[in-house]
This record gives sequence, structure tokens and C-alpha cells, in this order.
Amino acid sequence: MPALVVVGTQWGDEGKGKIVDVLTEKADFVVRFQGGNNAGHTLVINQKKYIFHLIPSGIFWPQTVCIIGNGVVVDPEVLINEIEKLKNEGLKVDSTKLLISEKAHTIMPYHKALDMAREKKAKQDKIGTTCRGIGPCYEDKVARKGFRLIDLTYPEIFKEKLKAILEEKNFLLKYLDADTIEFEDVYNKYTKYGEYLKPYLTDVSLVLWKAKKEGKKILFEGAQGTFLDIDHGTYPYVTSSNTLAGNACCGAGLGPSEIDMVLGVVKAYTTRVGEGPFPTELKDEIGNHLRDRGNEFGSTTGRPRRCGWLDLVLVKTAVRLNSIKALALTKLDILSGLEKIKICVAYEYEGKIIDYLPASLIEMSKLKPIYKELPGWKKDIKNIKKFEDLPEETKIYLKTIEEYLEVPFYLISIGPERENCLILKNPFEN
Ligand code: IMP
Repeated sequence: MPALVVVGTQWGDEGKGKIVDVLTEKADFVVRFQGGNNAGHTLVINQKKYIFHLIPSGIFWPQTVCIIGNGVVVDPEVLINEIEKLKNEGLKVDSTKLLISEKAHTIMPYHKALDMAREKKAKQDKIGTTCRGIGPCYEDKVARKGFRLIDLTYPEIFKEKLKAILEEKNFLLKYLDADTIEFEDVYNKYTKYGEYLKPYLTDVSLVLWKAKKEGKKILFEGAQGTFLDIDHGTYPYVTSSNTLAGNACCGAGLGPSEIDMVLGVVKAYTTRVGEGPFPTELKDEIGNHLRDRGNEFGSTTGRPRRCGWLDLVLVKTAVRLNSIKALALTKLDILSGLEKIKICVAYEYEGKIIDYLPASLIEMSKLKPIYKELPGWKKDIKNIKKFEDLPEETKIYLKTIEEYLEVPFYLISIGPERENCLILKNPFEN
């Protein structure tokens, strides 16, 4: 299985970082292909917590080369801080270990300022973005007004273009009652960032093409989740990139027939941050239980995540949209101790039973989840080493999900550490 894409099947925060980290043991390359520092993965290694936003999860494995593809929007300040943090921890982060696409777009200070100003002005209509400038940066990319990382390494051209663009951005910022941005400050900072990052910049597409020809194992690490996809998510409460597996091709520059398999990550319950529809949301004690036990607070913004029961209608849609052929279930241990566990298997919409998510926000707001109720289990499952040793009720829960989705589980994560994971099948070893 040389090229594998790992994507989230819900609204992000499915625990992809942990799954990618476990799979990376066998991978030669780990590639990010969309999103930016709106994502965040927490990894626990030797009881020490690390949070990263841009650098792919594979950075901790000595044999893995980490790649940031052209589809990622890069805040150079954040990236440089992450590189420096890793270096201070004694890790090697040179251009043999980390490669960055020269075509990746740069998040500029006005992107962050606009993101924040718009959210502030929108009040009740806000999206609940991470305010990291992601949307405005992708807007400029599509409008052909963006700066790619390579552009920062040509100061003279950068200078002229920046002057022109700042006029327009400052006009907008004034309209939004936000502070304007000074040319000198941005120019000096960003040309320095360009110098710092230059050794890492390369044609990532070419590197991946050669790697694939040599039979190297490549893992594409999706950020956010299926229902935050700009086209197929709960629009407009979505992020500004295509989060689906298909975008691994465009966002890294590898053709679709080079992808061998897609693995979907499903959290044993559902969470979302920010605004937007969430049919199985629980605003009760069980929701609090999931939030507290699952430590469901955003790793980027620290915001409490909204929590609810597992919604299989959503996950089955994600299976279809991404061509998912294998699943990894995460945070199963968080359900331990609950008397009963519910799984949403359909919705009721205006008296009818439906098994799909409608496109309209108005229709989404009227959905009533239809649940299948299963028995819970009391036992703490975190330290179980073999699938057979899981409680019978846990196995019933897993079987119910597998049968509904018609996709097998390859990995089951039962705790935060690398070791707390039952690997039923490793997609890199077939
Ligand atoms: P943006 O990506 O910052 O523009 O935010 C748009 C929406 O996506 C908001 O609801 C965010 O909370 C959500 N979002 C962005 N990144 C993540 C993520 O990594 N996990 C979960 N939600 C995210």
C-alpha cells in the first residue's frame, strides 16, 4: 500500500494526529495537503504533550520526511516557531527532514486582521473561525492576489506587489473598523521569513512522483474533517479548503491514480467547534461527560467543543465522498462508564425517515436524529492489548458501526498514548 490518504469523517478533531503518528512508523513520507494552522494535533509521547499546527505528525519518527504541500496555507511565523521549538527539543529539522512546496500560499498579517474583523462585525452570523487568516488567504489565492512562499524570496517583486495589495486591504480594514497594516513592518518581517524558509522550499510534486516510482510509502494527512469541506460540508459553516481525500492530489501535486487507499478516522462520538448544524448535539450531562472525559477543547483556540452521539449518517456520507476503504476508530475509551450508548442511524425530517444530510441549512436545522441504543460497558479499556479482551458490549458497539458502514476497522484507539491502540491491520503491510 504505497500511497495512503487519512481523512477525518466528521467535523475535524477526530484524532487523526494519533492515527497518522501510529501509521508513520512504517511511512517514508508524511504529507499535508490543505488547511493551515487552523488545524492542530496533540501528540503524547513519553507522557509529554506536543501541539503542532503546521508540521506533519510524522516529525517524531526518525526515518520519515515531512512535506507541506502546495494546498496548505502557511503562516510563516507559526511554521518557523514550530521548527525552532522542535530544534530546541533536540530534533533534526533540516531540509532532508522537512520539505515545503514553493507554491504554498502565505498567510499575511492582513489575512488574520480581516478574519478577526469580519468575525467581530458579524456577531450572531459569525462562522466561528479560528481567526488564523485561513479564509482570507484562500480568497486571495483564488483571486490571484496571493503571495506564494517562493515570492518571499524575491524581495524587489514582493515589495511592489505588497504596496499595491496593502492599499486595498487597508481600505477594507478601515471599513471593518480594524487597525490598518504598515508596509515597512510586513516587508521586513516577510523577507526575513523568506530567507529562513528558502532551504526548505522545493518542487514537492516532483519529490512525491519520484518517491512513488521508487515504491516509497507515502501518507497524506488530512486536516479538519469531511463536513468542514468547502464544497461538501455544512456550508457556510465550513473551512475554506477541500478537506476530502480527492484534494490530496491537487494539494500535493500527485495524480489520482497514484493514490492506493483512503482510511477514514471516526471518533466514537461527534464533536464540532464553531457554529453550524449538529443534529446529534447533546446539551446535557452526557455532553458534559464527553467533553470533560474526552478533554474536548480545541487544540488551536482552546474553545470548548460541542459534543454529541456518533452520527453514522454523516460517517456513511464521508465513506462515499472520500472512497474510504478502511476505518480507524478513536477515543473509544471515553465511552467507558456510560449506562447506554446511542448511535444515530437515520434522521426524521418533516415526518419522513431519511438517511442523508440535506444541503439546505434550514432543512438541516429541522433534522431529528433516530437512534439505535446499545448497552454501555463499565470496564476501563485503555490498557487492553488484544481485541478479544474488549468487553462484549464494546464489541457489539464496534460490530454495529462496521455493519452499518460496510467498511472494516483497521485501528482502534483506546487511549491517548501511542501504545493505546489496537492495530487489527496496518494498511502499509498488506
Ligand atoms: P477557519 O478554518 O479558521 O476558517 O474556520 C472555519 C470553521 O472550521 C470553524 O468552525 C472552525 O472552528 C472550523 N475548524 C477549522 N479548523 C479546524 C480543525 O482543525 N478542527 C475542527 N474544526 C476546525
